[in-house]
Amino acid sequence: MPLSPAAVQDDPARACTHPVLDAADLGTQAPVGVRLLEEDWVLWRDAAGQAWAAPDRCPHRGARLSLGRVGDGALACPYHGWRFGAGGACVLVPAVPGWVPPASHGLRAVPVLDACGLLWLRPDGRPAQPPAFAAEADLRLRKLNVGPYEVATSAPRIVENFLDMAHFSFVHAGWLGDEAHAAVQPHAVSVSAEAGLWAQGCQAWQPQSNRLSTEGSWVAYDYRVPAPFTAVLEKAPDAQAGYRESIALFIQPQGQEACRVWFRLAVPDFESGDAQLRAFQDTIFAQDAPVLLSQRPRRLPLTEAAPVQEVHCAADRSSAAYRRYLRALGWRWGVC
Ligand code: FES
Ligand code: CO
Repeated sequence: MPLSPAAVQDDPARACTHPVLDAADLGTQAPVGVRLLEEDWVLWRDAAGQAWAAPDRCPHRGARLSLGRVGDGALACPYHGWRFGAGGACVLVPAVPGWVPPASHGLRAVPVLDACGLLWLRPDGRPAQPPAFAAEADLRLRKLNVGPYEVATSAPRIVENFLDMAHFSFVHAGWLGDEAHAAVQPHAVSVSAEAGLWAQGCQAWQPQSNRLSTEGSWVAYDYRVPAPFTAVLEKAPDAQAGYRESIALFIQPQGQEACRVWFRLAVPDFESGDAQLRAFQDTIFAQDAPVLLSQRPRRLPLTEAAPVQEVHCAADRSSAAYRRYLRALGWRWGVC
């Protein structure tokens, strides 16, 4: 059921910071339209290179601003050429050249955050929060974004799949698991509305845990969910080098059942080409995608109003904790 307009205004998803675009895909000549939480936004860069976002609708006659262009850091509407500067102020109405438009003629613009190679937007207009990804600051690790992958399901389903260790032996047999090692090892899971989820001491037998593996090995790692649609896998520190290889899952919830997904890799491999690293992740995600797309309902059955309920086992502690986390936040986006 679609959320009512009042519910959309109150939705805690609007108070979160979401990725919307690869930073390199927003230049200084053209705006870009993106979709977030079932709303259309236009992105552009001002003269200083700062990115801005505003609802993708001209306040004059409703034309789609992302069809316009950018010149001298101002966004120009495709219909009558009104120009909007940094912060969204209307700075020129070409049909009335001497007129100074009032504030009411401007856009409701919000600054866009540039972090982890992506542009991030917080829909409620309050200051955007950078993603909690500790490995980003570690210079011993190479950073690379993989994706985005378009996935026709809800964001919580994608987060749960990322946390789910019991699927490795089946969905990723021969890569991240095998049926002889299907038992999920004991691990500690803590969760709170403030700190999110932390699963510590996870272990998985992985035949091919990364592109350079030559034989199977036990891999020890932690999972964190610092925000509802961000999850981080952090491998145990390398005994000699001391670094922590890490992968973040960043999700753009375009709609209740439509997402774009990035993985940000922070890995010690500086030799492989980008294409090689991407090919490995593409293979893993191509294994996940058919199952993700098959899940019904697409939204997480979190409430008693869901059309069906799901049953659980002891290996589902992380996903059970994730569901408690979403409930504690009063989350409505992508759940039923
Ligand atoms: Fe945008 Fe008229 S509709 S300038
Ligand atoms: Co998977």
